[in-house]
Parts: sequence; structure tokens; C-alpha cells
Amino acid sequence: ERAAATGRIEPGLYAAGWLRRGPVGAIPTQRTDARELAEVIAADLERDDAQQRVGMPALRSDLARATTWDGWLLIDAHEKANNAEPRPRTKLTDARQMRLLAASATDLPRSASEDTAVELNNAHLPKLTIAYATESGNAELVAEQLVLHLADRTNASTVDLATLTPDQLQTDTPMLLVTSSYDEGELPTSIRALHAQVVTQGTDLSSLHYGLFGLGDTSYEFFSRGADILDQSLQALRARRIGEIGRHDAGGRTLATEAAARWADTIITELMVTSVKEVAAK
Ligand SMILES: Cc1cc2nc3c(=O)[nH]c(=O)nc-3n(C[C@H](O)[C@H](O)[C@H](O)COP(=O)(O)O)c2cc1C
Repeated sequence: ERAAATGRIEPGLYAAGWLRRGPVGAIPTQRTDARELAEVIAADLERDDAQQRVGMPALRSDLARATTWDGWLLIDAHEKANNAEPRPRTKLTDARQMRLLAASATDLPRSASEDTAVELNNAHLPKLTIAYATESGNAELVAEQLVLHLADRTNASTVDLATLTPDQLQTDTPMLLVTSSYDEGELPTSIRALHAQVVTQGTDLSSLHYGLFGLGDTSYEFFSRGADILDQSLQALRARRIGEIGRHDAGGRTLATEAAARWADTIITELMVTSVKEVAAK
């Protein structure tokens, strides 16, 4: 009944034409009806959605996972080069591989489907672990890009912080930690258990040297507070932070990957040097 009177079925769902009024009239009548309904929809959008629609900021985290045109060309060329006759290409089906390839400007090994490693020729460089704590994947993407960005200075690999045990944090391999913030400025849910565990156990992390990068959004009250929570706990457990905490605002203009790369450049030398020195001194 309501639909017949106003065209509205429920928020965001409308009916026009015969669906709204029953089998009355021909095309011209329906056209008039549709035009009227369009005005109703436009007015509803104006009134109801104006505050809820965040526009560009809502897209930024997705855009951070997008590739450039050049990156897409690399993926395209790789898929065509790895075709299996008679097919014109073999599609890469793993988004992580695609992102690595797009960002690297170096081709993946031919056995890309079994082997996701990009050839970085950095096995001789000092080891670095880039551990991410993520809810929706941005921190993981940042970690992957940092591996590539730092490949000329370190032999870095990524790991999901949530998969580590407390004793795996008792390491003298330096770490870059990348964490986002959720809820009221909390840590991502995936690492809350590990965090609680190390804090309650009082795990001794005195061998750990780390750099810390926080992802967040200044439109939330507690901007990037997950990073502060992690930092305070790690320091209380005697781990040593090198450099300032880097931060990225998802509502700002820079990409998280770029902000993280610039931040990493400011701390990486000190992180690697102090870690090596302390290991040597032991
Ligand atoms: C439901 C929700 C809650 C969020 N809460 C916060 C917050 O309290 N503080 C903050 O700085 N950012 C907050 N953010 C923003 C995320 O931290 C930011 O988008 C980040 O890039 C996500 O990274 P991830 O994909 O690695 O989890 C929130 C995002 C969502 C979707």
C-alpha cells in the first residue's frame, strides 16, 4: 500500500510503473511515473544520506590496493607470457601476486603459481621481519610494499603478527610492525589474543628492536591508537623502539604504502645498525 502511494518499499528500494500501481496505462504513463519517482529518490538521497556518505575517504583504502596503469600492463604481459596453448593467457588468481608483480617492475619466476617470491637478490643482506596486524588487509599490503622498498638494504619478509607465538617475539631479528586501529582505537581483533597473552605472561622482549607504523583514520576519535597500545605494551616488556612511530591517515591524500616507505627510510639504518651491534655485544 505504501509503495502504491509513494513508490517507496523500504529505504533504498522503490517501485515504479505497473509494479507500483498495477496494470494501468501504457508506456507514456509509466514514463511520467518513473520521472516522478526519480524526484522522490533524489529528495530521499539528499535528506537521508547526506551525512552518512563519506565520499572519497571511503574509497581510499580500496585505492591503496589498486595498481597503476603500468602495474596493470605488467600483470597483463605476465599473464600472456605464461599462456598454455591454446589459451591466450594464464590468469593470475592471487591478488597478492598481482600486487607484488604490479609494484615490482620485475617479472615473477615462471613457476609463479607455485612460487610467489619475487626475485629480489637480497639474500646476503641483513634479515628484517615486517609483521602486520590487520583487519581488512591494508597493513598487509603496506608490509608487502615495504619488503620491496627495502630490498636494496634488507632481506625482509612479511608475517601476520597474529600467527606468531610469544616466544617468536623473543628474537634479535629486527622488526617493523604495521598495525591498524579499529573500534574505539583498539588493536585489530586478530592480534588481541596475542597481545593479551604477552602482557599477562610478562614475556621478556628485551632482545627485540622494532620500528612501528600505525594505520588509522583521523575521522575516528582515537586516531591510530592501536599503534600506541602496542608500543606501550612492547616497551613495558622491555622491547626497544627505534625512531618515531610513523602514522598514516586513511582520510588524507597520501597512500599508506608511500607514507610507510618514507617513514621506513627515516629509521631503517638505525634499526638495522643497533640490532646488529647489540647482537654482537652479547
Ligand atoms: C569499523 C572501523 C573502525 C575503525 N576505527 C578506527 C579507529 O578507532 N581509529 C583509527 O585511527 N582508525 C580507525 N579505522 C580506520 C582503519 O584503521 C584504517 O582504515 C586502516 O587503514 C585499516 O587498515 P587494515 O585494513 O590493515 O585493517 C577504522 C576503520 C573501520 C572500518
